[in-house]
Amino acid sequence: MQTLTTEKQHHESRQGEAYAPFSADPNQYDRLFYIESYGCQMNFADSEVVASILQDQGYGATRLPDQADLILLNTCSIREKAEQTVRKRLTEFKQLKREKKGLLIGVLGCMAERLKSKFLEEERLVDLVVGPDAYRTLPQLIDEAGTGQKAVNVLLSRDETYADIAPVRLSSNGVSAFVSIMRGCNNMCSFCVVPFTRGRERSRDNSSILGECSDLFEKGYREVTLLGQNVDSYHYTPASGSNSINFAQLLEQVARISPQLRVRFSTSHPKDITDEVLHTMARFSNICRYIHLPVQSGSTRVLQLMNRTYTREWYKAKVDRILELLPDCGISSDIIAGFCTETEEDHQDTLDIMRYSRYDFSYMFFYSERPGTLAQRRYADDIPETVKKERLQQIVAVQNELSLLSNQQDIGKVFEVLIEGNSKRDDQAWMGRNTQNKVLVFPKTEKILKPGDYVQVKVDACTQATLLGSLVTE
Ligand code: 5AD
Ligand code: SF4
Repeated sequence: MQTLTTEKQHHESRQGEAYAPFSADPNQYDRLFYIESYGCQMNFADSEVVASILQDQGYGATRLPDQADLILLNTCSIREKAEQTVRKRLTEFKQLKREKKGLLIGVLGCMAERLKSKFLEEERLVDLVVGPDAYRTLPQLIDEAGTGQKAVNVLLSRDETYADIAPVRLSSNGVSAFVSIMRGCNNMCSFCVVPFTRGRERSRDNSSILGECSDLFEKGYREVTLLGQNVDSYHYTPASGSNSINFAQLLEQVARISPQLRVRFSTSHPKDITDEVLHTMARFSNICRYIHLPVQSGSTRVLQLMNRTYTREWYKAKVDRILELLPDCGISSDIIAGFCTETEEDHQDTLDIMRYSRYDFSYMFFYSERPGTLAQRRYADDIPETVKKERLQQIVAVQNELSLLSNQQDIGKVFEVLIEGNSKRDDQAWMGRNTQNKVLVFPKTEKILKPGDYVQVKVDACTQATLLGSLVTE
């Protein structure tokens, strides 16, 4: 296990978790597609763009792979394990391919981009290989593949943002949705494959973002999460020649749609989150008090090798600043154990910065060398796997302590909670989140409520992952 937390409760990355969409009425469509997504939320959002493109071609979504005429895997390359999961899944589809003549199998996303046509040679089961910037060409590629040609398009673009495509919401709770605001990444973190698989940074037209968010609100959604690999470098210049818009300004525009619409965002690079963003958050109570601020390592020396462009002290000062302007802000992190040359002392620095930042939650991984990255070319992957895993276990143990402590401090407090649906374990209880992105579960009462309602909930008890409460009645 690389991630040892209750990831599904959280929004950011659902590494290795697949989802199948809603099922369309099979009689309504000529053909059916099945899609599974892996990796970060961007990938899940991209699958909704793909669903929209396919729907325009007369394809309906199905939850059942054996019903499908087209099976798509939207893949992730961030760690080797993510790639292994996809390869395994492809061999599982082998049998279906044998049984159903004409069934097409496609690989989308980061792994398609990284391996390109090699995929077709290596994995003889695959008919289509489509990179993250080439989804508009899916209809042609499907036609080509249907005639037995090997269809590949992995061209990266400098301007594709799919701005005009209205995503088809797949397996949505009808309350919270993800809205992509930019694509690609210009940071060159030395461990990371993303700049190679998703290309250069580009921002989406703010008017199309606002249109999508308003539309979601009208449809009953009450929370949008603005997504990008590095949201704080959002920068859009409207064609009309009017002034360009930065992330703080975009946040404000989205927050103004309605006070009833919660706004979240992910992911922030600590080097780029500005005071202007923090001040904007402070001015709007519907911009959630929660920042995902990946630290990666607590050692300045390792941070330098990672090319993160901040020091340990600089990061701590950023945490201080966030809490100065937003005292009740929740902070979470991503942490990598056992990066190249990491010493025991560096590792202790990571544990120390976790305690300093008092993260509510972290995604924790051990370092996985990725082909083509700066780290792979420059540094030896020299920390033995046993040491990486031991350090990861210690990181997880510290995070567990911090999460529990943070939740215990909430006992007795009353939070505004946006109801998302039934509690997974008990349909006699509601589940929702507070502004800090913490999950609250509370028993249903005779009061008639539904997903999308805001309620006041008092916290009575907690586990490490969940706050347990009761409805406050006026
Ligand atoms: N090995 C392990 N973890 C990685 N991440 C990115 N690249 C790697 C890698 N090569 C982690 C980082 C990033 C998160 C999405 O995945 O912590 O923030
Ligand atoms: Fe995985 Fe990164 Fe690609 Fe997202 S951007 S799918 S996390 S490799």
